[in-house]
Amino acid sequence: MAKPSTRYVCQECGGVHAKWAGKCDSCGAWNSLVEEVVEAAPKAMKPGGGRRIEFVGLDGAAKHTPRKMANIGEFDRVLGGGLVAGSATLIGGDPGIGKSTLLLQVVARLAQTARCAYVSGEEAIDQVRLRAQRLGVSKAPVQLAAATSIRDILASLDGPDAPEVLVIDSIQTMYVDALDSAPGTVAQVRASAQELIRIAKKTGIAVLLVGHVTKEGTIAGPRVLEHMVDTVLYFEGERGHQFRILRGVKNRFGPTDEIGVFEMTEAGLMEVGNPSALFLADRQDDVSGACVFAGMEGTRPVLVEIQALVAPSPFGTPRRAVVGWDSGRLAMVTAVLEARCGVSLAGNDVFLNVAGGLRVSEPAADLAVAAALLSSMSGIAVPKGAVVFGEIGLSAEVRAVSHGEARLKEAAKLGFEKAILPSSRRKGGKPTGDGLELVSIDQLHDLVALLQDPSEGGRFGRRAV
Ligand code: TYD
Ligand code: MG
Repeated sequence: MAKPSTRYVCQECGGVHAKWAGKCDSCGAWNSLVEEVVEAAPKAMKPGGGRRIEFVGLDGAAKHTPRKMANIGEFDRVLGGGLVAGSATLIGGDPGIGKSTLLLQVVARLAQTARCAYVSGEEAIDQVRLRAQRLGVSKAPVQLAAATSIRDILASLDGPDAPEVLVIDSIQTMYVDALDSAPGTVAQVRASAQELIRIAKKTGIAVLLVGHVTKEGTIAGPRVLEHMVDTVLYFEGERGHQFRILRGVKNRFGPTDEIGVFEMTEAGLMEVGNPSALFLADRQDDVSGACVFAGMEGTRPVLVEIQALVAPSPFGTPRRAVVGWDSGRLAMVTAVLEARCGVSLAGNDVFLNVAGGLRVSEPAADLAVAAALLSSMSGIAVPKGAVVFGEIGLSAEVRAVSHGEARLKEAAKLGFEKAILPSSRRKGGKPTGDGLELVSIDQLHDLVALLQDPSEGGRFGRRAV
């Protein structure tokens, strides 16, 4: 049988199929298969003829990687202390979230100390200039170009005025003319990124690639792009909120759990030095169903409000809707409340929201979520001026979490007086409290007792256990 000369590649997951189909077998996406021409398979290698490689020990003088600081603290910290020469960084995010704005601001700052080029494949020169004016950076010595051909871009990268930092906005608009497929397809995105990364490694140019995110939340096209680059950052935020969060998800030169917080204003993105104050700005005291969680984002403590609403459901199958937290984790917390503490959520819709548009991924938020849920059910507010943190285990035990001291310090700094926290001494010992009144909790039952409706069998009722 003759070999097929074309194949069909899913634009969502990169899955390869021999025949076209309406639905991708690998990821289940509809209408995502695009035809690609298969290049001739490389011939099998004959043994022998290689050059011996030299092995060395782990201990030795490592080459110092010079970093370029943008002097935008939130950006530099997420990168682990600035941009590394010769590195490739991918910045993903929804369309319109502010990736182009962020990178234009970053290169404008970097241009004070390094030669920077900004290549836009999406916007015309005039559009970028207008934006630069609005951001007040039009005087920065950034070299600007509108181009989409990788061949042209590579040809412009040598010579004495070659840039040290190159921004490609976006990788989905770039194309390599050796391939037949259209820009934005998996093959083109992969080939374009490969060429740019190769030149980055060879010449020491730091390359920043913008990548759009699909509706499923992965960087459009291939996940393979994430493997190819050194650093992957996501720029996220709720469209209705002005906060934007830059999150490191992969970093070969630094930590991956740092976040940078920005605020989108008329004059571009502003750094937010004290995110807790911003996230708690609209908070009201003494309302039921709300609870302040003392969380950690990387090395930085961040206080956020967790809001819950438990309401009788008009439907046979109650709704569970979560914004900013993991829905599987919510299912676990509600199951523990039901099975171990006798709190019945049956027949109720449950809505959970992390106020301010932050996404919390720590299990340490379990106790705060449980407190918000219980408070919403009973109508009793979480004690005024209290922060909550702790992980909940399946047998309703409250487990210690790391960085207790830093969480309490931040709470004290923002004027909180009380903390509801695990009593366990593990994970860095019992925190001293920083002047806060500490309410230690061993078992989830203690929290239920604290926030329970005093009239037994109140609005939602309690089952006997
Ligand atoms: P943009 O950087 O174009 O997003 P992306 O490159 O991720 O697609 O951001 C566009 C949005 O940002 C747009 O909706 C308007 C808003 N914006 C401001 O609010 N203030 C500003 O100063 C700028 C430049 C943009
Ligand atoms: Mg853009």
